[in-house]
Parts: sequence; structure tokens; C-alpha cells
Amino acid sequence: TALSQEELKKQVGYKAVDDYVKSGQVVGLGTGSTAYYAVERVGEKLKSGELKDILAIPTSIRTKEQAEELGIPLVTLDTHSKLDVAIDGADEVDPGLNLVKGGGGALLREKMVEICADKFIVIVDESKLCDGLGPGFPVPVEITPFCHEHTMRTVGDLSTCKGKCKPVLRMGSSSSNQPDGDEIAVTDNGNYIVDLHFDEPIADPPKMAEELKNVCGVVDHGLFCGMTTAVIIAGSDGISVKKP
Ligand code: A5P
Repeated sequence: TALSQEELKKQVGYKAVDDYVKSGQVVGLGTGSTAYYAVERVGEKLKSGELKDILAIPTSIRTKEQAEELGIPLVTLDTHSKLDVAIDGADEVDPGLNLVKGGGGALLREKMVEICADKFIVIVDESKLCDGLGPGFPVPVEITPFCHEHTMRTVGDLSTCKGKCKPVLRMGSSSSNQPDGDEIAVTDNGNYIVDLHFDEPIADPPKMAEELKNVCGVVDHGLFCGMTTAVIIAGSDGISVKKP
């Protein structure tokens, strides 16, 4: 019988830890329903003694709380700016292994932590693979609350965005892009999120990444280009690994 999506997430979460995390390492812990299982596995292996001397850096308050419950020793980038490995999920993965992340609202801390890792391991079920980023999942952009309507307009007018996407301010819980409340969603960092809804694939993700990053008022965005070391994919035919 086919494995449920939840079981697929667990498979890749566990495999990433089993294949890439060694005793003595500094490890980045991702955020989301797939990364959840990697965190669980690190906790399990520390408890059993299979892993020792792990220091972990969480990428959200949610993940920090999960790691604390599991007794995983935590540090921050302030004292440890070099990580051996970071493991996280993604919302979309293109053939060049560029990613959209931040559906769960944790993109800023995720990017800050994951760019500091020697190896960045992405874990997904096969539903996350796409031919081109964009139409399958809105691109989240974290912006400062100050004059956020102005910043949203500025983003919408970028050459890579104008006439191509619809910017939507995230409402309700910051951890979901489905509007589930009347208040503007606030991230772990006290910022807002604009979700860019594209009809067509983004032609040049690195160019769009650069344009977004240059907008004053944009803190960061969910395009993760050129960062991936390996993607572990769980599908109905088993687990496969893709490298750039
Ligand atoms: C969190 O902000 C996101 O970047 C998640 O890592 C991403 O949304 C994948 O989450 P799931 O594994 O829950 O789909």
C-alpha cells in the first residue's frame, strides 16, 4: 500500500539525519512539517547515545520549542557562525535545486542559519518538485511593518514582478499563507509577509532574488538560490537524492 504523505515526510526527515549528522557537529534545524521529523530524529539519537555532543541552531520559535522539549542542546549564530550541516524542508524545488521557502513564515531565520552551513540538506516529498518556481506556490517576502503598503507597491513594481504576480499581505497566523484571521500576520522577527502569487513560472529566480533584496524595506525573501547541497526526495517509488 502507498505510504501517506506524512510517512514520506518522516522517511526523508530521518534519512537526512542518519546520512548527514555526525557526533560533535553544529546542526541547523529547519522549520515545518517535514523538518519536524529531522528534529525528532536528532532528539531520539541523542537520547539513545547514538549521537553525542550535538549543538543545534533552530530556525524558528516553533522549532526551538520542539528541540527544547527533546532536550537538544541549543546555541545561536552569535556564538557559532559556522554550521556543519543544516536540514530543512521546502515549498518548491526546481530542476536547478533553487527553492521557494517560507510558506511556514520562517524564511528569514532559515536563510540566516542555512547560508552558514557547510552542507544544506533539503528534505521533501515528491509533490514539492516543479519545473519552474512560482505558479505552484506563492513566494513569501518578509518586510518591515513601517509603511508596508509602500514596500508592497515597490516590490510589485520590480521588473521581475510587475504584471507577473499579485502581492498579497499575509493575514492571520504567520505560519500559513491561507488567510486565517483578520489581523496582519507577524513573523518571529516582528515583521510582515507579502506572498507573491505568480501565474507563470519565474523566468530568472536569481535575478528576482537580487531585485527583491535591493528593496529598502524588504528584510529577506523565500527564494533560496544556489544554496542546496542535496535534496532528499520521498516518492511512491522510494527515496532518491538529487545534487546540483
Ligand atoms: C518554513 O518557513 C518553510 O520554509 C518550510 O520549511 C517549508 O514551508 C516546508 O514546510 P513543510 O515541510 O511543512 O511543507
